[in-house]
Amino acid sequence: MAKTKSQYICQTCSYKSPKWMGQCVECGEWNTFVETVIDRSSVFGGNTTKLGVAAKPYYLSTVTTGAVKRDSSGIEEFDRVLGGGFVSGQVILLAGDPGIGKSTLLTQISKSMTKFKKDVVYVCGEESPQQIRVRADRMDYPAENLIMIQDTNVEAIVGGLETLVRGGEKSDVGLIIVDSIQTLASDDLTGIAGSVGQVRFCSQILSQTAKRLGIPMILIGHVTKEGTVAGPKVLEHMVDTVLYLEGDEQHLFRILKTTKNRFGAVSEVGIFEMGDKGLREVKNPSEIFLSTKEQDVPGSCVAIIMEGYRPLLFEVQALTVNTSFGYPRRTTSGFNANRLQVLIAILEKRAGLNLSNHDVYVNIAGGFKVNEYAADLAVCLAIASALQNKPLKSFTAAFGECGLLGEIRRVSNEAGRVKEAKKLGYKNILTPDNVRFLNEAIKKAF
Ligand code: TYD
Ligand code: MG
Repeated sequence: MAKTKSQYICQTCSYKSPKWMGQCVECGEWNTFVETVIDRSSVFGGNTTKLGVAAKPYYLSTVTTGAVKRDSSGIEEFDRVLGGGFVSGQVILLAGDPGIGKSTLLTQISKSMTKFKKDVVYVCGEESPQQIRVRADRMDYPAENLIMIQDTNVEAIVGGLETLVRGGEKSDVGLIIVDSIQTLASDDLTGIAGSVGQVRFCSQILSQTAKRLGIPMILIGHVTKEGTVAGPKVLEHMVDTVLYLEGDEQHLFRILKTTKNRFGAVSEVGIFEMGDKGLREVKNPSEIFLSTKEQDVPGSCVAIIMEGYRPLLFEVQALTVNTSFGYPRRTTSGFNANRLQVLIAILEKRAGLNLSNHDVYVNIAGGFKVNEYAADLAVCLAIASALQNKPLKSFTAAFGECGLLGEIRRVSNEAGRVKEAKKLGYKNILTPDNVRFLNEAIKKAF
């Protein structure tokens, strides 16, 4: 019988078991077993750390930094999100819902890297090379610089990368793309591809490879619901940079956000639009988000929201209708439903609006998600406008958090938000600076 190379370890109490168990016999917790490698000889050639070799301590002041060298991806919005471009050996996790455009974005980066005469290695475990070729054709990309590795075995992939880069084959690899980490598996683990143990172990090996070869690597990870398939959350601490590609499949805009970046700020966002030839960079997003906005209709208010360092203008839409059954409905899309309940309570109590027999629907136009409390005021004004069936004054935009006392509370970067709104022609801009209470804001908005 082959030697066991892995075991299942309870993530709560470290109890070890050769088989997976639903409940830990030691601590009684459920679903805590993760498969872990115990014998790594096949990957590291038997060089496991020997006990008793002393590490050498040193003063941090003796470490020299120098400027970090950055390599452009060729796509300005993407470079900005990374903080200026790729750093050698940087491991990036690109996460997002299936079908959102992750493969499209990376194919596009490969395309723009032809400008720098750089090759890109595309490890595909998810799609066939034909499918990738079809995508490239669609984007008018002849793909002469794209080197495919079609495998799902992580040891084979690492071997392939090593031979390609070190084996003297003539190629200048500027980026390695792994599509997707959930399809890869190691021989050392018995769990299926996509299980927490496999995802974690494969990423660890790939990330060591990227560092060893000094080539940036992007791992694609699908955002998944909890279950047997591991989502990107288990990887976040293992990579240098975490990017999320968000948006709504039914809509064309995509926002690329960073939630972690060891080589730059985490507040930059990139905005793209999905077209028939792939993703297009959007340089002046607010203008486009609002381009379909109807002027002067009841139930609409523009909110000024920060996406990272960038103020963006979104349209908040509200609809109120008489409740036909006893219990009024409150439905949202793109906005937190619990927060809406709170805002409705504030509107009733502090601004005297009677919503107890109205269903309230709130929607952020364009399929965006807004999590900032700064959207509160615009949501309240949209609801007030819908309820009274009266449009707000032309060119009204608003931001500010609504407190339970009906006060408008300060939020970050107020000056930047006002500037962006003015730039886009908004004149009646309601801010925590010029309105102190919700009822005062409602008066000023109409
Ligand atoms: P894809 O990049 O395969 O998504 P992911 O890798 O995140 O799962 O692409 C998703 C969708 O984008 C797919 O439904 C087709 C669409 N698409 C376009 O609209 N235009 C294009 O040019 C391309 C390549 C794809
Ligand atoms: Mg894909």
